[in-house]
Amino acid sequence: MNYRKNIMITGGAGFIGSHVVRLFVNKYPDYRIVNIDKLTYAGNLANLKDVENMPNYVFVKADICDFDRMLEVMKEYDVDGIIHLAAESHVDRSIKDPFTFARTNVMGTLSLLQAAKIYWESTPGGYNGKLFYHISTDEVYGALELTAPEGIQSPFTTTASSAEHHLAFGTEFFLEETKYNPHSPYSASKASSDHFVRAYHDTYGMPTLVTNCSNNYGPYQFPEKLIPLFINNIRHRKPLPVYGKGENVRDWLFVEDHARAIDLIFHKGRVADTYNIGGFNEWKNIDLIRVIIRTVDRLLGNPEGHSDSLITYVTDRAGHDLRYAIDSRKLQRELGWEPSLQFEEGIEKTVKWYLDNQEWMDYITSGEYEKYYDDMYSGR
Ligand code: NAD
Ligand code: TYD
Repeated sequence: MNYRKNIMITGGAGFIGSHVVRLFVNKYPDYRIVNIDKLTYAGNLANLKDVENMPNYVFVKADICDFDRMLEVMKEYDVDGIIHLAAESHVDRSIKDPFTFARTNVMGTLSLLQAAKIYWESTPGGYNGKLFYHISTDEVYGALELTAPEGIQSPFTTTASSAEHHLAFGTEFFLEETKYNPHSPYSASKASSDHFVRAYHDTYGMPTLVTNCSNNYGPYQFPEKLIPLFINNIRHRKPLPVYGKGENVRDWLFVEDHARAIDLIFHKGRVADTYNIGGFNEWKNIDLIRVIIRTVDRLLGNPEGHSDSLITYVTDRAGHDLRYAIDSRKLQRELGWEPSLQFEEGIEKTVKWYLDNQEWMDYITSGEYEKYYDDMYSGR
């Protein structure tokens, strides 16, 4: 079959990547979707069971750092669009092993860019109709202060876009123009890769795009990140390790809303531009944790307060960024994107998914995971 587009999605077996692959494979039967993933600890083909037999889906196990292999795959599948999500993505791991982050996030991105440059420049149309879309994070902007006006609380009941929630933690937000100021090895490696992507546009004229998104949550997230880790620990009556005083603030977006934004930007975004993606949904960690506890207990039929005593304050993360908050109004204004889910709904769906998919969780947490958990949390 002659496909209308041939899109390479890197990191498609990971958390966000699997949602993007699923969306594209189902929504665009006339596109061929080529998922490139090395299947590190974070990549799991079980995340894509429902699409693995679709005729327009191809999986290639490969390392993005392998330049020759990337060039070969681009040629083999006539790739004209790249949505690049493959990365090492966990801040705590980056603190213990920064080299892996530089290798995958910086050198891997560079290897993909260079392979795309060579391949696309060799095609009859050159860069016409091509796009290199790089998925990045709000963490590249650094951290914001807590400057909430007096008396405004972080409420669970307001809508995500209400002015009240908006100002719950401060009046400052990350804009597309905000200067990069990364603090962790993870965010430093992502910042570096963002710069390389823009450099390929400015130097070689490659059509590129970068988006910077806030913290995602939802099904299929590896249980090293706060939300799935805590849901799983509550279920197993294990302590909930809250870093520092639990006062750091994150801006949470349901993963399917991120995937929808990626679809929209891939098709309608302005080349060489940057869009911030976020839901105006800031939560202080400890407040979020209480919501998770309440939701898990309710869905498991436990009495209210049953799991509160699992909260355990532990040594803070080194260089722990205080607050992230995205201003995504440009994306709303220019392309009409808005988050579809209220947080209450999103968190309910998420907790329910993890509780209903215990087999997935058990598989993910067997083997290496226990060692990871001990290394990361014992003695903390
Ligand atoms: P993830 O860790 O769940 O998945 C990463 C995927 O990349 C895995 O499938 C892994 O096997 C694959 N991978 C890693 N190294 C590779 C390599 N060398 N070659 C090929 N594949 C490799 O990550 P995620 O949370 O889904 O994040 C995806 C992207 O989105 C990342 O670039 C991340 O920086 C960005 N992002 C994540 C969030 C978030 O909250 N999770 C927010 C904003 C941006
Ligand atoms: P995480 O999910 O690792 O995302 P990120 O660091 O990229 O924002 O962490 C979210 C917040 O939760 C962050 O402020 C660190 C905190 N946290 C804990 O308090 N305990 C934990 O065990 C983890 C994994 C995170």
